[in-house]
Amino acid sequence: MTDSPVTLITGGSSGIGAAAARLLLDRGHRVVVTGRDRERLDRFTRSCGRPEAVLGLTADAADHDAVRSAVETASKRFGRLDAVVANAGSATPDSVIDGDPTRWREMVLTNVLGPALLIRHSAEALRATRGRIVLVGSVAGFIHTPGNLYGATKWAMTGLAENTRRAVTGHGVGVTLIAPGRADTGFWDSLGGRPDGLLLTAEQVAESIAWAVCQPSGVDVNTVVIRPIGQPV
Ligand SMILES: NC(=O)c1ccc[n+]([C@@H]2O[C@H](COP(=O)([O-])OP(=O)(O)OC[C@H]3O[C@@H](n4cnc5c(N)ncnc54)[C@H](OP(=O)(O)O)[C@@H]3O)[C@@H](O)[C@H]2O)c1
Repeated sequence: MTDSPVTLITGGSSGIGAAAARLLLDRGHRVVVTGRDRERLDRFTRSCGRPEAVLGLTADAADHDAVRSAVETASKRFGRLDAVVANAGSATPDSVIDGDPTRWREMVLTNVLGPALLIRHSAEALRATRGRIVLVGSVAGFIHTPGNLYGATKWAMTGLAENTRRAVTGHGVGVTLIAPGRADTGFWDSLGGRPDGLLLTAEQVAESIAWAVCQPSGVDVNTVVIRPIGQPV
């Protein structure tokens, strides 16, 4: 156990991040999850029943010092860092044409600055382990949606993944963009509720994350787009 791989997941107290944390724990990883709500984090880590292998850290993914500190704490607590998953993200339902700009700052900083901060502060540790960076983007980062700023943040994530891959592949670090379609999580609570039709489960998206993290040494899976059957765009 003391030598088992260590993965840090931002936004890991619920939804896709929490499902990925559980899967990785099942596969023998130690896991650090971050989130902003201490109680939610505690509920999640308690529910894992593996206090020796899971650590919850309060950290806003868009806060420079908090991200740096989370990476340092993860490395110190478990002695190594093998993978980071930039998963924390949120959306607003409105349009750049007539929406409410006061809600955009938090979304843009979490979805775009957040992953960049995580990469910045984990790159050195991941070079040491020849580790992996996984970015949770979205189908919305591959298609155009009229007026949608959330989608634009995910286009940024699509670009960041390949820009990062080109910077770190020579150092032995892998980079994977996981771009999910609609999934059944709390993500939709602020968007007026779940959309109609079949949704992926958080566990189904998490399978792709765990698969990317657990690729054999030397293999770099770069882009995975995963939709529920029946999602046309
Ligand atoms: N669900 C979908 O249909 C879908 C589709 C495509 C892509 N995605 C992407 O998948 C990722 C995960 O979403 P989800 O569906 O699992 O949503 P979720 O159920 O709402 O979970 C989001 C998690 O991120 C945390 N979080 C949010 N903002 C944060 C911040 N600034 N700093 C730290 N933690 C933060 C939340 O905890 P706290 O609020 O306590 O911080 C929560 O644990 C997001 O990047 C989302 O854009 C989701």
